[in-house]
Amino acid sequence: MTPEPGSARPSAPDSTPSSDRPSPLPRFPRDFLWGVSTSAAQIEGAVDEDGRGPSAWDAFAAEAGRIKDGATPRVTTDHYHRYREDVALLKELGVGAYRFSVAWPRVVPEGRGAVNGAGLDFYDRLVDALLEAGIAPVPTLFHWDTPQPLEAAGGWLVRETAAHFAAYADAVAARLGDRVPHWITLNEPAELTLLGYGLGQHAPGRHLLFDALPAAHHQLLGHGLAVQALRARGATSIGIANSHGPTWPASNSPADTEAADFYDLLLNRLFAEPILLGRYPEGIAALLPGPVADDLKTISEPLDWYGINYYQPTRIGAPEADDSATASDFSGIRLPAGLPFAPREIEGRPRTGFGWPVVPEALTELLLTFHQRYGTALPPLMITENGCAYDGIDDPERIAFLDAHLRALRTALDAGADVRGYFVWSLLDNFEWAEGFHQRFGLVHVDYTTLRRTPKASFHWFRDVVAALGWLP
Ligand code: NOJ
Repeated sequence: MTPEPGSARPSAPDSTPSSDRPSPLPRFPRDFLWGVSTSAAQIEGAVDEDGRGPSAWDAFAAEAGRIKDGATPRVTTDHYHRYREDVALLKELGVGAYRFSVAWPRVVPEGRGAVNGAGLDFYDRLVDALLEAGIAPVPTLFHWDTPQPLEAAGGWLVRETAAHFAAYADAVAARLGDRVPHWITLNEPAELTLLGYGLGQHAPGRHLLFDALPAAHHQLLGHGLAVQALRARGATSIGIANSHGPTWPASNSPADTEAADFYDLLLNRLFAEPILLGRYPEGIAALLPGPVADDLKTISEPLDWYGINYYQPTRIGAPEADDSATASDFSGIRLPAGLPFAPREIEGRPRTGFGWPVVPEALTELLLTFHQRYGTALPPLMITENGCAYDGIDDPERIAFLDAHLRALRTALDAGADVRGYFVWSLLDNFEWAEGFHQRFGLVHVDYTTLRRTPKASFHWFRDVVAALGWLP
């Protein structure tokens, strides 16, 4: 995976009139990994087939009022039955890698104990179909679908969940390890902690605010234990997919700067530093349960690469009198009153269908901040998710978004960031958690009545980008 700047093939010809044509995308290293991402709960459906047990998201979706329009993960895109069609789409797209997630409740229905061979069979078939199509499978072991029996016993607030996760990781590696080249342990433990346990907007719907912090620690511990389990099975390329974004203070005032620093700690440093540096940011370790110093040795097991999911930066100020009295809306998240930080608008930017500001240069900033902050402690990076929600099959806004972010990524590479791959979120429109089916992130449109897949304009655009810029699996 050594980058060789400037060695890619030239851009593909296009039929756009030259006056309207944007300058061609810059080149990327020949062995740069191009991919797309999905997750099990968002695309698979088939929630009670072949021995799968219920997940925390199945239980959450069954509660009235949790998810827009009462949507559920029961069918979603029906990928479980249509994976061959989806692999054919991936092949047409020409990507070198496909990031998907393995559903823990499919493989270990109770979350602990007996392994369900029929559940593993599905991923076995998927991995073989991908390899046959020349696509590297990149499984994520946990993308938020905690088995419900474990959730009912406290989920990630309970230390034992980390050990159960490692046992499940071992079972998956035992079955797929001979064919999987790259592994991801967790997806976005920050979001599960903050949205799921802190603010109650994602499963399991707990409102613990800062008392949710043990869920962060136990996920990180589970990550470290899973790295050990994967290594013991011979894995040589292991990463994590953490969500990160620059945090900008609303002004230079000390109060705004302090509030923004605190938010940066919660979103970025709390999840990066234990892994990369083997320590928590100052003051946090004392709030966490268990033998934290020992756990940190496990959590900081060396990784082969570090995955970043990037969507947007945040602008944060100190709370003002109004903020501390009322709840606020923030990128689709309802924040309660009384927090030590307050979101502020990022003005003058286009917005995605989700209302998120489009700020490509913040990706450059983020990558260079990591490069500077962590120096030699930072393994090579991978963009494990980047994308946007827009409606429509003709989706010029998504093309503009991806084009701009790829340029921003190239700028970061030129400035010294070591990034080895880029995965678009997502291959398909899918179940967007509490938003139900309202936000469409796919390169491929899904009609949720007929389940028909239709490649969008952005699919054809990305296919041409990948063909022009090259990849090696
Ligand atoms: C990150 C999450 O990993 C993914 O599941 C989600 O759909 C996207 N963000 C978009 O919100």
